[in-house]
This record gives sequence, C-alpha cells and structure tokens, in this order.
Amino acid sequence: MFVDTSYVLLWTLFPLIAVVYFSFLRHKKCCNRDKKVLPPGDMGLPFIGETMEFFNAQRRNQLFEEFVEPRIQKHGKIFKTRIMGSPTVVVNGAEANKFILSNEFKLVKSSWPSSSVQLMGSDCIMEKDSDKHRYLRGVIGTTLGYAGLEVLVPKICSSVRFYLATNWKGQEKVSLYHSTKVLTFSIVFECLLGINVEPGMLDTFERVLEGVFSPAVEFPGSKFWRAKKARVEIEKMLIKVVRKKRKEMEEKLLSKENGMLLSRLVHGMIQGEISEKEVIDNVVLLVFAAHDTTSIAIAMTFKMLAQNPDCYKKLLQEHVDILNNKKCGENLTIEDTKNMNYTWQVARESMRLFPPIFGSFRKAITDIEYEGLTIPRGWKVLWTTYGTHYNEQYFKDPMSFKPSRFEETIQPYAYVPFGGGPRLCAGYQLAKLNILIFVHYVVTQYDWFLLHPEEPITMDPLPFPSLGMPIRISSKYT
Ligand code: HEM
Ligand SMILES: *[C@@H]1O[C@H](CO)[C@@H](O)[C@H](O)[C@H]1NC(C)=O
Ligand SMILES: *[C@@H]1O[C@H](CO)[C@@H](O)[C@H](O)[C@H]1NC(C)=O
Repeated sequence: MFVDTSYVLLWTLFPLIAVVYFSFLRHKKCCNRDKKVLPPGDMGLPFIGETMEFFNAQRRNQLFEEFVEPRIQKHGKIFKTRIMGSPTVVVNGAEANKFILSNEFKLVKSSWPSSSVQLMGSDCIMEKDSDKHRYLRGVIGTTLGYAGLEVLVPKICSSVRFYLATNWKGQEKVSLYHSTKVLTFSIVFECLLGINVEPGMLDTFERVLEGVFSPAVEFPGSKFWRAKKARVEIEKMLIKVVRKKRKEMEEKLLSKENGMLLSRLVHGMIQGEISEKEVIDNVVLLVFAAHDTTSIAIAMTFKMLAQNPDCYKKLLQEHVDILNNKKCGENLTIEDTKNMNYTWQVARESMRLFPPIFGSFRKAITDIEYEGLTIPRGWKVLWTTYGTHYNEQYFKDPMSFKPSRFEETIQPYAYVPFGGGPRLCAGYQLAKLNILIFVHYVVTQYDWFLLHPEEPITMDPLPFPSLGMPIRISSKYT
C-alpha cells in the first residue's frame, strides 16, 4: 500500500520533475547566452561617444595620462568606449596584448580608417589576410633576412655618410628631425626598394601621409583632398618605375636576386603572383610604415642621450671601440652592428617611453570571450603600448630612463613598440639598422647639443618634435 502510493506518486511526479528539470536547464542555457557581460566603461555621447576626449588627449600627446590611465583607474584594464562612431574596447596589459595580437585573422582583423585605406591603397599588406598576407610577408622577409641585411648594411652606411657630408658638413645648426626624415626616406627607396629618389618625391609623399589620419572628406583644399591628389602623382611615377623594371627584367632577364625589394615584387608580377596595383600599393605602404616611425625613434633617442650624459658616454665608447677596429672610410658590417648592444638598449628604452605608434585598432570578426567579458562581433578593439610600457608590473620605476633594464629578459608582449603576432612590424630589422647606423656616424663624427632641450612633442597623429629638433653641431675632425 505504502509502496503503491509511492509508486503512484513517483509515476505522477516523474513527468513533472522532468518538465521542471528540462525547462530549468533550457532556462539556464538561455540565460547564459543572454548573460554576456560587456566590458565596463562609458560610451559617452550618442554616435560621437568619447571621440573628442580621445583626440584632444592625443593632440596634447597625453593619450595615456588623460584618456587611458583615468579609465583604467575607474574601470580596469579592459574598458569600453566609443571612438569615431564605433563602439571600441581598449585593452591593456601583456596578457591582453598577447590575446588580441596573436589572434589576428582568427578573432580580429586589423582595421584602419577609410582615409588611411584610400591613401595607402586597398591592396596593401595591412588590408590583406591569409595567403596574400603570407606571400607579401615572405617577399619582405627574404629581403630583410640575414643575406639581405649583409648587403643592406654597407648601402645604409653609404647613404648616411653621403647625407652627412653634403648636409651637415660646414654647418653649425641643423634640424635633426628633418635630417632623419630625408634619410629614412632615401634609405627605404634606394637601399630597400632600389628606386632612385627624384627631387620633389619626399614632399609628395609627405602630402599623402598628412591625409592618412585626417577625415575622409574631399572638398578642395582639405588635407584629405590634397593627399588624394598627391597619391595620384605618386601612382603615375611608380607605374613608370614598375613598368620600366618589368621590361628590364623580361628583356635582360635581370634576376630578382639583385636583392632589391622592388625587383622581387616585380618578379612576383611577372610570375602572375601579384598585380601591378598590389606592387604599387605596397610600395606606398612601406614608405608610410617606415617614415614617421623611424624618424621619431631616432629623434627621441638623441633627446634621451642629451638628457642622460652618463648613458651618452657609455654609448659613445661603444662606437669608438667599433671605429678603432675599422680602416679609415671602411663601411660597417652586420657584425659591427651586432656589437652595438648598448646603443640598441638606449634606442629600445627611448621607444618604450616614446612609442612611435601608441597602439592600433582591430575589429572583432566574431563574438570574443575574454576574462568573462564579451567583445561583440563588429566592435573595434584598441591595443596599446602604454598599457604595458608605463606599468611597473612589467618595468620597474617605469617613468625613468634606464637602458640597462633590457639586459634582463622581458615578459613577452609587454614591450610592444613593433606590435606582435602575425602583424609584427615587417620592417623591424631595417628600422634597427637605420637607427644604429645613423647614431654611429653622428656620434663618431660630431659633437652636438639640443638647442631647445624643453621642446614639446606634438602628435599629428604620430609624435614629432614641434620645432624639428634643432641641434648645434661641430665636426670632431676640424
Ligand atoms: C621604429 C620604427 C618602426 C616602428 C616603431 C614600427 C611599428 C610597427 C607596428 C606597431 C606595426 C604593427 C601595426 C599593427 O599591429 O596594427 C608595424 C607593422 C608594419 N611595419 Fe613597422 N615600424 C617601424 C618601422 C618600419 C619600417 C622601417 C618598415 C619597412 C621598411 C616597416 C614596415 C611595416 C609593415 C610592412 C607592417 C605591416 C605588417 C603586416 O601587416 O603584416 N615598419 N610596424
Ligand atoms: C661602402 O658601401 C657602398 C655601397 O655598397 C659602396 O659603394 C662603397 O664603395 C663602400 N665603401 C667602401 C670604402 O668600401
Ligand atoms: C652583444 O650581444 C651579443 C648577443 O647577445 C653578444 O654575443 C656580444 O658579445 C655582445 N657584445 C658586446 C660588445 O657586449
């Protein structure tokens, strides 16, 4: 009887329990799906969001102090905001850098403003993924591989020496920043690509670069409009150069092994691997990627040397030692540059404090789950150098200049002036040689000092010294 009742009870209750149980499960599942937690943060005004705060801080070169840092304090290392109409998640810290940068193509893809894409060209490497990206990285990578660098070093030496002999010799005052720009430009064109620099080319390219981060509005007189016109001029010039090179290679079977990047790209064109537009867009991109970045890195290295006489003494000794092992007028070799350890520490420490690129934007190509937070598909993600470079968790006493900190190993993705993951700077080796070799010839040939030690650094949107970093120079050999 007892048993019977309980059986009846069980049989009547079972379906009920089952229904409750399953509906509970479904409910739970559905709630989990809904329970996506967006990162904390303030989206600001409708549409424009916090765009003004972002740009104002950037213009004052206070992006970290005025925009990023206060929001980290308030919301934590991962926060949301709205910049230029896009909901954006800003991520900070080595773990987050690693997560975002190494998941390029899988969870995110690089995302440039429309004006940048139009001016650099829609077929440039920044806009490519999968096979084409790999192909272009391969071509650049071979040119900047060990064999390539061995050929490149004497060429860079010769460019730097020629520049100093024609522009600095006999002068008392020069603009260091202007010099680094002219030199970086000719090193990319002549040493890397193998294209002769014609008068006026630098000006035309700079007009393009001025529009890369300005709004994509095309009314006569606007920055973007001028940049577009300059881009058309550059295209005309480059088409001529590329077609001439193609003809030479086809007729004389000039081999791609002359080492120059343009020859390799044109070789790819002849083989049907890439189009003429892809060659041209990537030449423009390389100039864009190399130009302001390398120039400001060199300028800030000199500024730091001026402010830290002990570091300068040590650096100078390194170069005197190298010079003493050379015959008069002999070029440096790649082995010599490998002995510039301290110089490279100084340059890296300068780029830690003054990263030429503060970070860059990605776009989520799927819903991203990270540390219990969701970054919805279609949102932008901004990774930053500041989030780690200025954090004492990764760099002790972060605001002071200490090149020797690079003697110790640094946690991966904490030091990221060159980015990381599949889009790690493809020109890293060239930038390094450009910096080391320029420093070598300047410090061994000249005494110098800054004319405006307190010169402000402005951003537009990359940092640059507002007065062009004028220096007083005197030759050591007169
Ligand atoms: C101090 C100098 C330089 C700095 C600080 C720098 C920094 C960077 C950074 C941060 C990125 C990654 C951007 C991103 O993840 O969205 C990058 C990419 C790139 N850089 Fe550099 N760069 C420098 C010099 C150069 C030079 C000299 C070249 C070429 C000759 C170059 C060519 C490139 C290219 C082609 C990419 C795109 C790579 C890709 O999309 O796969 N860079 N650079
Ligand atoms: C230095 O290198 C350049 C470029 O490769 C070359 O033309 C020049 O003759 C070299 N100078 C010396 C002294 O070897
Ligand atoms: C510079 O560093 C390299 C590799 O870390 C090392 O082999 C070399 O001996 C160092 N050179 C000097 C002069 O310290």
